[in-house]
Amino acid sequence: MRFDVLTLFPGIFEGYLSESLLKDAIERGALEVHLHNMRDWANDKHNTMDDRPFGGGPGMVLKVDRIVPCVEEVQTFAERPGRLVMLTPQGRPLTQRVVEELAQEERILLLCGRYEGFDQRVVEILQPDEISIGDYVLNGGEVAAAVVIDSVMRLIPGVLGDENSAVVDSFSSGNRLLEEDQYTRPREYRGLTVPEILLSGDHGAIERWRLSNRREKTLARRPDLLDGEEMKIDEDEKKKKKKRSKKAKEPEQIAEPENVVEAKPSETPDAADATENNVDV
Ligand SMILES: C[S@@+](CC[C@H](N)C(=O)[O-])C[C@H]1O[C@@H](n2cnc3c(N)ncnc32)[C@H](O)[C@@H]1O
Repeated sequence: MRFDVLTLFPGIFEGYLSESLLKDAIERGALEVHLHNMRDWANDKHNTMDDRPFGGGPGMVLKVDRIVPCVEEVQTFAERPGRLVMLTPQGRPLTQRVVEELAQEERILLLCGRYEGFDQRVVEILQPDEISIGDYVLNGGEVAAAVVIDSVMRLIPGVLGDENSAVVDSFSSGNRLLEEDQYTRPREYRGLTVPEILLSGDHGAIERWRLSNRREKTLARRPDLLDGEEMKIDEDEKKKKKKRSKKAKEPEQIAEPENVVEAKPSETPDAADATENNVDV
């Protein structure tokens, strides 16, 4: 996959591109990132890229007669013009579903604004996909472009060590909810222990615990992520729980514990050790 970043400050990307997963992906040829200094398209002796807004007001606006030729020329630098993304707080929100959509592209141009942003005619002429990384205002589109690259590259085959991790992460295609709590060795730290069930070796029970943990956490923190169906399942579970606790109370007045996990962990140390030895560290 190829990214072309159009920016007034290409230096911002240097450290980011030369570290960790991104560096490896570029070296292995899974990813190309080309930086273009938009100022190279300024055609006056002062290298002017911006001007005062018509009608008055604060700040400076990026000039249409600099930005449009710049984008159009960069589009010719590869076989296909690619998808043009403009980073702007006024765009559609970047979600994991949008990231998945972008990951299908062969080439993406990321147009980074500065100052007060772009002359509106840039949008009218180029009709970019306008994307926002959140309801707040950054100084420039560079950090937002890095966010797009960072999130999209995880979905490119061969970039992550274990591709399955991008499927089960929070919001992802295999799990639209928040991911469950994660633990690794040691089993106990400062009196806090790992949930027994994760040491049981009982894969069915572990899966049920994970699902339940994901759903409880999502309900508490991000109920907006639970769609109608998930909500319905949750309501059903609450009803069942209420019924069970009512039944339990009736004869003996004993309250049912709050734990929703039904499977019992295996108590055998062998199973627990087998699981522990398989922990990836
Ligand atoms: C200071 S901002 C301009 C904000 C603009 N005047 C407005 O109110 O919508 C400068 C540039 O930063 C980038 N930017 C700022 N916030 C952003 C966000 N939430 N998502 C994506 N890009 C953003 C855009 O490229 C924008 O052109």
